[in-house]
Amino acid sequence: MTTMTTRVSPEWLALREPVDAASRAADLAETIRQNLDDVRPVVVHDLGCGTGSMARWLAPRLPGPQLWVMYDQDPMLLRHAAAALPARAGDGSAIAVQTRQRDVSKLSEEELAGASLVTASALLDVLTADEVERIVDTCVRARCATLLTLSVIGRVELTPADPLDAEIAAAFNAHQRRMTERGRLLGPSATPMTVALFEHAGAEVVVRPSVWRLGGAETDLLIEWFAGWVGAACEQRPELTLTTADYVGRRLAEAAAGSLRVEIHHEDVLAWPR
Ligand SMILES: C[S@@+](CC[C@H](N)C(=O)[O-])C[C@H]1O[C@@H](n2cnc3c(N)ncnc32)[C@H](O)[C@@H]1O
Repeated sequence: MTTMTTRVSPEWLALREPVDAASRAADLAETIRQNLDDVRPVVVHDLGCGTGSMARWLAPRLPGPQLWVMYDQDPMLLRHAAAALPARAGDGSAIAVQTRQRDVSKLSEEELAGASLVTASALLDVLTADEVERIVDTCVRARCATLLTLSVIGRVELTPADPLDAEIAAAFNAHQRRMTERGRLLGPSATPMTVALFEHAGAEVVVRPSVWRLGGAETDLLIEWFAGWVGAACEQRPELTLTTADYVGRRLAEAAAGSLRVEIHHEDVLAWPR
């Protein structure tokens, strides 16, 4: 099976932004803040920035004047990002923004020259092994810190549990690792592979959980996520469409009533040159 690169909608990114913000590993931002305390300005390159969710979360946590260089393949998302970045850091310093429409798997070391930090959020799992290898290699050569957040690790827990949950989860994970025109996507293998690559290159690496916890207060996101989760599973194994019809109706009713809770596990990785 081959698949074209899917466009990400700004509406989906807006829906997930508050939960992403609540899930991110705040202690990694604190480690970065301490390590960049003397750096002025802080230059951050955000790969696959979407509408700029990572910058809105991280910029106020970093010290002093900052330049955010925002990369995405989608020019519409880059326009959103440029228009919606905070103007000031937490200490009142100015934040400047540049946008670059690029395929981030083809970045050169020169483009990252002078970077204090490279970030990417909810990106690694939609890349192939070759693409992640190139990104890690470029970051290692640029000798800057790298923060790669919110990569899915293939584990979800629904409460109350249902016997079909595990089958759908397995089909969804297989869909995440599907073959595309660019090669096989990493899906849940993204974090372990990234960690291994950075460690092999001699970097210091820290991994933290960043779990989405969805319940009655996040019904809209929960329903969107659930529809995407089951939809991807059925695309991977079309025979599931029939098997899961009752299950889907039951789960959506639970979600609408606020009685369904879901934990979707992700991981954040911070790598630092020694
Ligand atoms: C799931 S979204 C996450 C967006 C944003 N980082 C966030 O956390 O809200 C993934 C983003 O990566 C971008 N993207 C995916 N592959 C890319 C590539 N090879 N080069 C540039 N951007 C890419 C998509 O256009 C999308 O904006």
